[in-house]
Amino acid sequence: MANPPDKSSGKFRSAQWFGLPGKDGFIHRSSIKNQGWPADLFDGRPVIGIANSWSDLNPCNAHLRDVAESVKRGVWELGGFPLEFPTMSLGEPIMRPTTMLFRNLMAMDVEESIRANPLDGIVLLSGCDKTTPAQLMGAASVDLPTIMLTGGPMLNGKFKGGDIGSGTDVWRFSEEVRAGRMTAGEFLDAEAGMSRSAGHCSTMGTASTMASMAEALGMCLPGSAAVPAPDANRARFAHLTGRRIVQMVREDLRMSRILTRQAFENAIRVNACIGGSTNAVVHLLALAGRMGVALELKDFDRLGQELPLLANVQPSGKYLMEEFYYAGGLPALMREMGALLHLGAVTVTGKPVRDNIADARCYNREVIYPFDRPLKPQAGIAVLRGNLCPDGAVIKPSAATPKLMKHRGRAVAFESIEDFKARIDDPALDIDETCVMVLKGAGPRGYPGFPEVGNLPLPPRVLAKGITDMVRISDARMSGTAYGTVVLHVSPEAAAGGTLALVKTGDMIELDVEARRLHLDVPDAELNQRRAAWKPAPSGYARGYAKLYIDHVNQAHRGADLDFLVGKSGDVVTRDSH
Ligand code: FES
Repeated sequence: MANPPDKSSGKFRSAQWFGLPGKDGFIHRSSIKNQGWPADLFDGRPVIGIANSWSDLNPCNAHLRDVAESVKRGVWELGGFPLEFPTMSLGEPIMRPTTMLFRNLMAMDVEESIRANPLDGIVLLSGCDKTTPAQLMGAASVDLPTIMLTGGPMLNGKFKGGDIGSGTDVWRFSEEVRAGRMTAGEFLDAEAGMSRSAGHCSTMGTASTMASMAEALGMCLPGSAAVPAPDANRARFAHLTGRRIVQMVREDLRMSRILTRQAFENAIRVNACIGGSTNAVVHLLALAGRMGVALELKDFDRLGQELPLLANVQPSGKYLMEEFYYAGGLPALMREMGALLHLGAVTVTGKPVRDNIADARCYNREVIYPFDRPLKPQAGIAVLRGNLCPDGAVIKPSAATPKLMKHRGRAVAFESIEDFKARIDDPALDIDETCVMVLKGAGPRGYPGFPEVGNLPLPPRVLAKGITDMVRISDARMSGTAYGTVVLHVSPEAAAGGTLALVKTGDMIELDVEARRLHLDVPDAELNQRRAAWKPAPSGYARGYAKLYIDHVNQAHRGADLDFLVGKSGDVVTRDSH
């Protein structure tokens, strides 16, 4: 349900609070006037909610209160009334057991905060990985005019005179330490040089990917996703975002007009060409579910499989987001993609994609490759099927080792990430580089929360040979900054009784990415026996949000939203508060 602006009276939704006569209007206006607002601000002008995921506990979003001030300038300038409010914030490097457990909770917070308050338009301020999809999902279920501004990547990390990228180089350095090729002191120096400014991860990890997805979906001003957090252009985009949301309210340009099937198809294709995170799969599926767009896992393969990698950005490439921005950013890359995109899709500018990217230019062909001379010929996320993943699994070929993408190997199975950590460094573990590491119990329900542990560290004896990749399979996710021949999001997960739960060390597993096949080479009769003997482990959560999550989370191939949050309820609140 949506309340259109009352064109005849010129009243917006907020007038149902601030425009009321009598006791209720008095209460709504009087209380908020304690902040010094003059009476004429309650004259029916658009009230703009700035949903801010700022938090000292989320370093990637810690600068967003400054960004909000710039947004407010733009709102005031066009005659709106900006009111900033906090949302939950999810700091990827800090929260336990995993931020993904809380993405849906944050989305609930955003949704209910918007609906319950006298707001006509929304500016979403996000940054770190889950904050972007959570805000989009929550806002989508209300469906007011909404625009997003992400916080931007941090400046390039520096170590020993060279650039280092968030996450990606952490994985590399930690393996170097385990292999004895890097000292603990050097590791500490790298730690001090990696995060040099405000902003989210500097690689094309999940935060940069989701910022790019938001822009590709049409939810951000074009060109804003890649602007580094400390760059004055981010404040400029914030100011313009503030201006634009006031216009969007007057135009009644709601999320449902922007987040169409075409928008999602554009995002999936852009994700392929930027070498974006596998996490985009679950987030886009969940967001589409909120909007009632029938997106499926197979769409990612169908739309992305033939697309090349154009962005030479870590982890699939060499450079960082700072260079991507200087090279022209997402508009330049989208212009390369041309007619592969739905150029008529409407965006927050009120204009189609075609107009937004018409003047985009690439200024560095080392960073953004031309479509007819790409960095890698195939970059889309591959969706695998087989008896090990009847509802699908994903792999990112651009971050994998080509010779491992067709592989048959002996499984070494781990029942949990704790089991893995306890045994992987044991010299007695019977494992070599031809084996397939299998991790169970790290799916949405099983962990709970679907953590980023799928890029399992390699055993020391393999690392000592200078080998840096092995086939790894799990029901987990992996950081968008990570790389390797890593099969993720196996569905159904082990905790839901998927075939993954039945894998035993010594079983043979076949991976064939080109054929999109993942097969556990165990006879059906044997699998049926194992299935009959399998029992789910107790979750260990008897109360609270984790219990709610475990009882209601959808599997990975459906975006891991809570089943009762799929869809939207609109912006109508039928009952008064007093
Ligand atoms: Fe926040 Fe990477 S840790 S974006």
